[in-house]
Amino acid sequence: MPVFRRKKHWLAALTGVLLSSILLAACGENSPSILNVAGPVAESESSLFWLILYLALAIFILVEGVLIYSIFKYRERPGTPNPYQNHGNMLLELVWTVIPTVVLFVILFFTIRGLLQVAPEAEPAASASQPKIEVTAVGHQWYWEFYYPKYNVTTADTLEVPVGTTVHVKLFSNNVIHSFWVPSLTGKTDVVPGHDNTKWFVAQKTGLFTGICAEYCGTQHANMRFNVNVVDNSSFMTWISGQQQAAAAPTDALAQKGEALFKNQCASCHGIVGVNVTQFYNTAQECTDLPGGKANGTPQCLIGPNLTHFGSRSLIAGGVLDNNTKDNNCDPNNPNLMQSCNLAKWLKDPQAVKPGNDMAIGALSNAEIQQLIAYLEGLK
Ligand code: CUA
Repeated sequence: MPVFRRKKHWLAALTGVLLSSILLAACGENSPSILNVAGPVAESESSLFWLILYLALAIFILVEGVLIYSIFKYRERPGTPNPYQNHGNMLLELVWTVIPTVVLFVILFFTIRGLLQVAPEAEPAASASQPKIEVTAVGHQWYWEFYYPKYNVTTADTLEVPVGTTVHVKLFSNNVIHSFWVPSLTGKTDVVPGHDNTKWFVAQKTGLFTGICAEYCGTQHANMRFNVNVVDNSSFMTWISGQQQAAAAPTDALAQKGEALFKNQCASCHGIVGVNVTQFYNTAQECTDLPGGKANGTPQCLIGPNLTHFGSRSLIAGGVLDNNTKDNNCDPNNPNLMQSCNLAKWLKDPQAVKPGNDMAIGALSNAEIQQLIAYLEGLK
């Protein structure tokens, strides 16, 4: 009987096509996948994946092939005698014990090799041909903070790194366990309170790569995303020197009102260098008593992200929203500001955007939101 005569078979085939197209749709250029490789650590991980996949595929085809062949070749026909019984055949027993053992040892060998390739000990030493930067990634509930000790720069939601440079990441949390994962660049490592793990990676091409928190850490775990923005060396240095500056004082009246509002309403949770804090600081060293804003002295440790260069960021609200300033979306004079600007949505009702987060700003009028947007988006 032809395979597709029955309706059921058509349905099964259709479901298969739909499912596989959904799966393949996740393989776009920018999808966070270990198969979109952009550095040696991810390269090592994905080559192990392909090795195991191809081995398993070969075994599948071989076993299924023999099975299907046997089903047809040795099927029961009228008058056929009982087939040969091979129970206790030493040669066969040896063959099907030794081959899987060898296959598993091959996988074991490459797994151990992969582990050594991505281990902390395998981190390339800094040299003229292999420069290195250090970053502390701080897992908060629920956003990522990044601190560059050498440059004394703090940012959030986007980790900016130069291409072709070893990035040594110190992982720090003072709340719950998070997990730092940038599929295209490096595997997952837990960020454990009281246990300072490290991680290293090298990005071999420029571009934007998605980072994810890979350990359940509370209500908004799924919304604890970040970007890794890989740029060329001179852009990185330009970015660093911009980020090192204190916030520029606003010049227009609307933004000045926004700054006053910030001091009044936001400054107990967020820092802006030059406004309510005097400098950037390393949360991992100075704020081990968070949450609660308790500091081991000055400067004061704050629970929210540092906003000194907020306007220059591509993501806001812990990676849930784009900082969509293009096309005048967040121009304070845009009549559709409340609908078109993501920052407006966030300030209007942060609990609706990201339920359970720590942002407790109280009800702001549209005019106040407009003032805060004028101020914050101006902080380049
Ligand atoms: Cu942080 Cu999940």
